[in-house]
Amino acid sequence: MSLAHRRILLGVSGGIAAYKSCELVRRLRDLGAEVRVVMTGSATHFVGAATFQALSGQPVRTSLWDEQAEAAMGHIELARWAERILIAPATADVIARLAQGHADDLITTLCLASAAPLYLAPAMNQQMWAHPAVQANLATLRRHGATVLGPAAGEQACGDVGSGRMLEPLELRDALVASFGHGELAGLKVVVSAGPTFEDIDPVRFIGNRSSGKMGFAVAAAAAAAGAQVTLVAGPVSLATPQGVMQRIDVRSAAQMQVAVLEACAQADIYVGAAAVGDYRPVCVAGQKLKKQAGADLVLQLAENPDILASLSAQSKRPFLVGFAAETHDVANYARGKLERKGLDMIAANQVGEGLGFETADNALTLYWHGGEAELPRTDKATLARQLVTHVAERYKVARA
Ligand code: CTP
Repeated sequence: MSLAHRRILLGVSGGIAAYKSCELVRRLRDLGAEVRVVMTGSATHFVGAATFQALSGQPVRTSLWDEQAEAAMGHIELARWAERILIAPATADVIARLAQGHADDLITTLCLASAAPLYLAPAMNQQMWAHPAVQANLATLRRHGATVLGPAAGEQACGDVGSGRMLEPLELRDALVASFGHGELAGLKVVVSAGPTFEDIDPVRFIGNRSSGKMGFAVAAAAAAAGAQVTLVAGPVSLATPQGVMQRIDVRSAAQMQVAVLEACAQADIYVGAAAVGDYRPVCVAGQKLKKQAGADLVLQLAENPDILASLSAQSKRPFLVGFAAETHDVANYARGKLERKGLDMIAANQVGEGLGFETADNALTLYWHGGEAELPRTDKATLARQLVTHVAERYKVARA
């Protein structure tokens, strides 16, 4: 489930349920959404603007007449920015004003000025909810294309019992997720490994490689944006977790990566092995720093690491497996060889060197699968990752059909 980079305008009107909207902002941001909050004047009697500002990480607007805010992002710009408008809580008053097409405050003006679909989460006393005026206004808004979410029935803040409770934050969040329809990987669990592995020699030295993790992180971001629930297993890299990624597990060695990947993959539909897993590790890891023996060579004995992809493909219930192959020469042959040998569904191969591959912003890939291939020409890693995800989604559907 993801709302990565989705732009949601949350309108908060004056009801006690406004406190639940604080939680809603957090839950929307958990899924990667960008949230901007506007409040009516009466909403600020229930929750301070500073609370929403801290939770959304964005300035909160409470008035049409704030010159500074208008200079930063004018209300028309804000109306255009929004992909969805959710009014939560929506009081009887704001519902009435919206139904009438008023534009007497910021929220109502934004709703009129925006082409974004409007969602309303009513919250009010059960007697008010049952009033024919409120129901008539909602009928009008529905006719104009608005979607009414809830309300739920139950105990109310005022002590009454009945219909009028605002839906819970997670229910509202899920309604917004569903409103964006289905991404290519919607509903699928995807595990991505990224970055290098470090194999310790002693407390201060290790064997590593030049993988930056950028390609794997871009794949994780693209999969999340395509609607997947993503777990990212990261080797030692200094990269921020991409928006929308549900879980990140940091590891150091190949053995740790194998444990984390196998555990995450027990529930996964797709595994993308973008990590540059070290093939060998020192047989003995010295507990203390090794001292130089002047004049003598040092021989380091290495043991073979487990192959994570191969161990996944050996399982009877295995996810769809996508490997990477970084090659300096004879790319097609080596990549097809790895596709077969490791029992993969797809492999993404690239030529390293010549300004491409490790530590670079750009990359180029050739995808191979049984009976086909696709060329993804040189471009930035984010674009390439989105193209890769599209191919993975296609091949996944064919494989599962
Ligand atoms: N891989 C893995 N476990 C390992 C080594 C590699 O899962 N111990 C995965 C990588 O994440 C990648 C793919 O295998 O998706 C290809 O890795 P690569 O190092 O190119 O393959 P090797 O089998 O090590 O081949 P080479 O002889 O080229 O090193």
